[in-house]
Amino acid sequence: MTDKSVVLIGFMGSGKSALGRIIAKQLGIPHSDMDQLIESRAGMTISEIFAGEGEEAFRDMETGLLREIAQSGKGQAVYSTGGGVVIRPENRALMRRIGTVILLDITPESVLSRLSRDTKRPLLQAPDRKARVEELMRSRRPAYLDAADYILEVDNRTKDENANRLMKLLEEL
Ligand code: S3P
Repeated sequence: MTDKSVVLIGFMGSGKSALGRIIAKQLGIPHSDMDQLIESRAGMTISEIFAGEGEEAFRDMETGLLREIAQSGKGQAVYSTGGGVVIRPENRALMRRIGTVILLDITPESVLSRLSRDTKRPLLQAPDRKARVEELMRSRRPAYLDAADYILEVDNRTKDENANRLMKLLEEL
């Protein structure tokens, strides 16, 4: 079993927050959700940040938080990231410094069925949600693969099944 921190990456709806919470509990270590931390520090929801300050401002907050985590030298923890964190090469390098990076890999079809009624993710509020998801996934794919140390496919399985598979993967490290 690894003693490194675990960083979960993946597209919106891949289960980073839920799985992060479950495995942190099972491992008995803290869980941090970057989107939640950003919202509570800013005193605004992500939709409000995107609408009021723009996407780049949100990306700067993500990078700032990753820099802090990488420098903090805190003990082992599980970090759930936001789906777009991989876009910036600096973020990918920071995540590698923080811990083992695991990609929760999901197909566009599953994202669309899981998030068909979502109103909280600004990037999904597009007239053609299917086209938006497909385009974002296509353009981000190389960044996800570059960032990931390991890949866990999460389609067509329950949260608990995926949590067990993720625990097994971590036990083997
Ligand atoms: C984003 C994903 C969201 C959130 C923001 C932007 C993205 O997080 O950070 O809406 O660019 O993919 P989740 O992946 O937790 O939905």
